[in-house]
Amino acid sequence: MIITSTTRRVALIWPYFATLMAAAPQIPEIIRIKRDGGVLKDADIEFFVQGVAKGTIQESQIGAMLMAIRLQGMNASETAVLTRAMLSSGERLPWPKEWHGLVVDKHSTGGVGDKVSLSLAPALAACGCKVPMISGRGLAHTGGTLDKLESIPGFCVQQSQQQILHILETVGCCIVGQTESLVPADRVLYGIRDVTSTVDSIPLVTGSIISKKACENLSALVLDVKFGKAAFYKSEASARELAISMVEVGTQCGIRTIAVLSKMDNPIGLRVGNSLEVMESVECMQGKGPADLVQLVTKQGGLLLNAIGKVGSAEEGEEQIRSVLLDGSALAKFEAMLTAQGVEAGVARRLCRDSDFSGTMKPAKYSTYLSVDQDGFVQSIDAMALAIVLQKLGVGRSQVGDPVNHSVGVQILAPVGHRLTRGEKWIRVFHEEAELAGEHVAALQESLDIGPVPCAPITLITDIISASS
Ligand code: URA
Repeated sequence: MIITSTTRRVALIWPYFATLMAAAPQIPEIIRIKRDGGVLKDADIEFFVQGVAKGTIQESQIGAMLMAIRLQGMNASETAVLTRAMLSSGERLPWPKEWHGLVVDKHSTGGVGDKVSLSLAPALAACGCKVPMISGRGLAHTGGTLDKLESIPGFCVQQSQQQILHILETVGCCIVGQTESLVPADRVLYGIRDVTSTVDSIPLVTGSIISKKACENLSALVLDVKFGKAAFYKSEASARELAISMVEVGTQCGIRTIAVLSKMDNPIGLRVGNSLEVMESVECMQGKGPADLVQLVTKQGGLLLNAIGKVGSAEEGEEQIRSVLLDGSALAKFEAMLTAQGVEAGVARRLCRDSDFSGTMKPAKYSTYLSVDQDGFVQSIDAMALAIVLQKLGVGRSQVGDPVNHSVGVQILAPVGHRLTRGEKWIRVFHEEAELAGEHVAALQESLDIGPVPCAPITLITDIISASS
């Protein structure tokens, strides 16, 4: 037989074709069942997810299946099977036996000014927990924990499994990015969901989030499910549906899972923007955080401490978290985490102990104050409108992989409830161009709602959902 380069190429790619052909009759049938609103067998879901992870299913078939799931939904049992199959597509982080019952994490569905993780991970470590926090980057209008931390020179989000283990042994917490070997099926599915308008699907979000948390081998997980103007889920009812789905599946994966439903109408805290949010987090760990941020940190921390039995009640847990924010032990953990993740010791010390923000993180070139043209009380600040301007100024990215600007952002001088008099400044905008464009000024001024009387106090956290509730 004459061996040509063509026969050699066919021989090389034959195993791939053989697997594709074996998969070919089954995948269209699985898609058809879901397309027509049927319930999939466990084996079908597992076959699909394995094929996604191994690269044996065509992208067009994955897209069709995702759209079928997005339109027809999945029941609780299908969602659990999907999540476990995604989890099985990669490795799980192994921990020493003596950490049993101590490994915890949190996840937020995304917000504006949501910097809770930056204070919560060190606070939990200061309370004796192990926190392997695998976080994400900002997408669309929401900020990402990794982008915020990368505004600190030297901070490295990419850590190997061995490095994660070492940082948890020595510090107790780390905040890192996803590694190649953890839940590879999610990487493929998420990329295709992003370009096929299938992100907003409760079973797909549940599978994506819970599989990534379950591979951390957690004892307990708190989920901050946001709803409102600047949340991906606008209504409390849809946020609740997602929360229930994630709590159910997380619990089935052996994790004590609790969800907090919280309002995302106004920005969280007084600063929005990558390095500005690091500053506010340091202040929070110096016991000087704004009330809404402190409430979210202490509530979620308290629920986790209670879930792993470190305290007798969630309220006692909240007190413990509050005390490590006040006595400096959370901040000491944060400083240790920064140096363990690549920040020069002198920089970490200046940032945390001397509050030397402008000397450690690059400040924006310009800043502009905006003032009000009437007297009144701040009723609301539209976090979505604000975030859209900030995204245009470079705080966030429009596409995965875009660079972000770490220095731009806003400092809110008059939060909700504050009384303003005509001509008083309400916000400071940090920007890189010499002139803040008129359209941005107009949009920011529009985001502020002022009324003649003080507004009613806002209930930030509207419900807590756990397996027993
Ligand atoms: N975050 C994730 O990790 N996955 C989703 O599907 C949505 C938000």
